[in-house]
Amino acid sequence: MKNKTKRFFTIIGVGIFITSFLAMIYYGYQSFVIHLEPVTSKEYAYHFVLIAEEKENEYWRLVEKGARRAAEEHNIYLEFAAPEKADNEEMLKLFDRFISSKVDGIMIQGVQGERFRELVHKAVERELPVITVDTDVQNTIRKAYIGTDNYLAGKLLGEALIKNTEGVQHVGVILGRFDAINQQERLNGLEDAIANAPRISIETVKESNITMVGATQAAYSILKENSKINAMVGLSALDGIGIAEGIKEVVPYKDIYVAAFDMLPKTLELIKSGDIDITIAQYPEEMGYQAVEIMIKLQSGDLLETRFFTDTKIISKKDLLLNGEFKP
Ligand code: BGC
Repeated sequence: MKNKTKRFFTIIGVGIFITSFLAMIYYGYQSFVIHLEPVTSKEYAYHFVLIAEEKENEYWRLVEKGARRAAEEHNIYLEFAAPEKADNEEMLKLFDRFISSKVDGIMIQGVQGERFRELVHKAVERELPVITVDTDVQNTIRKAYIGTDNYLAGKLLGEALIKNTEGVQHVGVILGRFDAINQQERLNGLEDAIANAPRISIETVKESNITMVGATQAAYSILKENSKINAMVGLSALDGIGIAEGIKEVVPYKDIYVAAFDMLPKTLELIKSGDIDITIAQYPEEMGYQAVEIMIKLQSGDLLETRFFTDTKIISKKDLLLNGEFKP
């Protein structure tokens, strides 16, 4: 009996050992084997790179989606590169690295400062076209810009604020990053729009670092620090969502006018539920798509036109309802 039990456990033990050994070999192989990218086996027309503000950002993933669609249609090898967390220095390093690599074109969010201008110059000198996407830097020799007219978009938001509110408005603004040009332009547009409406004043501006947690925290502190706030504005894609969260936490009973940016699914849900009043629509997929198409044209020479604005619209609940149904 004792021997039988011993044999039984020995067989089970050996079985477990063999299975683990085989699994180790299999998974070991899977982790170390290098799967070659099809780039080596397939002939592509061109190799482009899209350098975004932040890797896992939902908005930039939409720009990428549009760019990939155009790349597939035109047989382009497209790389997507971005800092893990939004950071101008990191983006400039990536830019520099790709200038020295063998790509045929670079599409990048415009970055503020002299270094960006120098790098655009370096690329263009090497006959490597550069296109700015989403954010332009006009005093550079970039070949084209594709994206929203950010000043106009900020102005639209300001006009909506004037049209949709009554009485004194103390506005709290949250923007993505103080050192992002598109955020500065949107804020300028907003300030210019309300310049002639003395009943509306901007009380404070905070940054979210283009994260939802950052936007919620910024909204939280704006509302805690200033009890007069009765309107809030978010100038980048996740800010409106953070504002809605912050209001729920700090002043859930208060009717605060909320204007946001972009049409991420969560933002549209919050418009439907009445937590966000309006959003300024941008078309990131369209930006990515057009950027690739324009980059293809640039491969055979410069273009007469250099600024390509994608659409900008004010979206409210009524625009999302079709025959009474919610249709984002
Ligand atoms: C801006 C992008 C930004 C994104 C952040 C958008 O509104 O156009 O520049 O990266 O928001 O989520």
